[in-house]
Amino acid sequence: MQVFNNIQDLKPILSQKKEQGHTLGFVPTMGALHQGHLSLIQQAHKENDDVIVTIFVNPTQFDNSLDFEKYPRIVEADLILLSNFEKKILVYLPQLKDIYPNGITSKHFDFGGIENEMEGKFRTGHFDGVGTVLKSFFDLLQPTNAYFGEKDFQQLQIVKKLAALEKLPVNIIGCPIFREPSGLAMSSRNKRLRDEQLQEAAILFKLLSTVKNDFGTKNAKELTQWVEKELKKSKIVTLEYFEIADENTLKPIVNIEKNKKYRAFIAVFVGEVRLIDNIALN
Ligand code: PAJ
Repeated sequence: MQVFNNIQDLKPILSQKKEQGHTLGFVPTMGALHQGHLSLIQQAHKENDDVIVTIFVNPTQFDNSLDFEKYPRIVEADLILLSNFEKKILVYLPQLKDIYPNGITSKHFDFGGIENEMEGKFRTGHFDGVGTVLKSFFDLLQPTNAYFGEKDFQQLQIVKKLAALEKLPVNIIGCPIFREPSGLAMSSRNKRLRDEQLQEAAILFKLLSTVKNDFGTKNAKELTQWVEKELKKSKIVTLEYFEIADENTLKPIVNIEKNKKYRAFIAVFVGEVRLIDNIALN
């Protein structure tokens, strides 16, 4: 593992590798690493000569200052995890000024409307922040392939749009959701949950699995009402939104069309911690 704290030290190393004809796999993260992150890194290793992992809690993508403040920051433990990887990893912990040389603001992007659905509706400015930080990283690192989890499916679609829009020479690769044995999708935010909350949060995957099962026999309205009803019973988990949407447009489903792919998306609060999950339906 090689750790870089600023772009000046990293740039010559990346240039050297590029001259040698190496491919570079990029895994951006906000740290508090778990198996989900590690599965992305593993895939990047399989498909590239070198892998770079970034850890950076990006201020511009948080619409809620409490969420930003409380976001788990455990860089030392993260570095131990990364150093135990069988293959060598480049780790970049950027300075704020590397990413935001002109001040901490985000650029506004037009992603063709997908930025206004679901997460975009409930987290104002979130995808402008994600677009801004990733555009900076892509420009600085010039990776061959970049890896994103389907856990944040809307983000994955946004990044594909960003790469097309900005004509970035990078392949955006989606990776499956890594789950706890309970079915709960792994997330850095799970570290903020107490045991009882963690157990109750497993209901998300149970609901999504039932919806997948019933998709096709029950319509979207019935499924949505059922999810709402089930979550009203919980004293611990509060629903923010549940939606069945077209995978590409992320617009809510109207009628099932044969050649389209659909996913169910859910966002909840467990105490003050916000969790999201999704599942492919067909
Ligand atoms: P973060 O939440 O740290 O996630 C980093 C990457 O890991 C994302 O691509 C995310 O989808 C993926 N990931 C998280 N949990 C996962 C799981 N259980 N299974 C599979 N993949 C999972 O997403 C971000 O950071 C930020 O928005 C970032 C892209 C780094 C930009 O700041």
